Amino acid sequence: MNILLLGPPGAGKGTQARLLEERYGMVQISTGDMLRASIKNNEPLGREAKSYMDKGLLVPDDLMIRMIAIRIGEPDCAKGFILDGFPRTVAQAQALDRMLSAKKTKLNYVVELAVDDDRLVERISGRFTCGDCGEGYHDMFKPTKAPSVCDICGGTNLTRRADDNAETIKTRLSAYHEQTAPILPYYKAKGSLKIIDGMAPMDHVQTKLVQLLGLK
Ligand code: AP5
Repeated sequence: MNILLLGPPGAGKGTQARLLEERYGMVQISTGDMLRASIKNNEPLGREAKSYMDKGLLVPDDLMIRMIAIRIGEPDCAKGFILDGFPRTVAQAQALDRMLSAKKTKLNYVVELAVDDDRLVERISGRFTCGDCGEGYHDMFKPTKAPSVCDICGGTNLTRRADDNAETIKTRLSAYHEQTAPILPYYKAKGSLKIIDGMAPMDHVQTKLVQLLGLK
């Protein structure tokens, strides 16, 4: 099963994709995580992407399309994947269609997590992650049980993303409304777009998503 999760920054795409991965063994493909790993490893792609990401701007389409073409060709994706963060422009959506049709496969579900802008700012500015195991947290909505200690691995290396600051969040939201939101009508016209209320608590969103995908 191939799933595309759409929604603005902070809508919960990564949170829901990770839950599906844990519960059902699906492969999460997060372009944001891939780019951050590339920056950490000081790769040429990461070095080029960083200047855009730090400003909250989208990385150019040609880089992203090349990156995702390689990733979905890897063996672990053959049984299906969850796309989180790609496509983000109509050009990326069209390129994805071409890649999937060349592989004689398609997107089975396209799901938008709908969340108001005010809530997004609150979510992004409170987010932090365990730098050791990658578990995601939130100051208000998902705090660690013990202060500054990861619930999962016990690590204390809790980090905040460089682009989760007030100024960059504004640019990321504008990029979403101007460049990414136009892909919603693209999928609606194909009849494949489903919408879930992403304002609900995380476990409610997961229940709705699991129902929509026909999973148990
Ligand atoms: P990326 O890493 O994809 O960031 P994003 O789209 O801005 O999305 P986020 O990761 O911020 O949000 P999310 O929806 O995953 O929310 P999360 O689950 O963490 O991209 C970063 C940058 O990379 C881009 O700006 C761009 O420069 C570049 N890039 C990446 N892909 C690209 C592409 N295809 N083309 C061009 N450039 C690209 O949740 C947020 C917080 O809220 C968490 O703390 C979580 O715990 C909490 N939360 C989640 N759900 C709920 C809930 N239901 N209730 C309460 N709290 C919740």
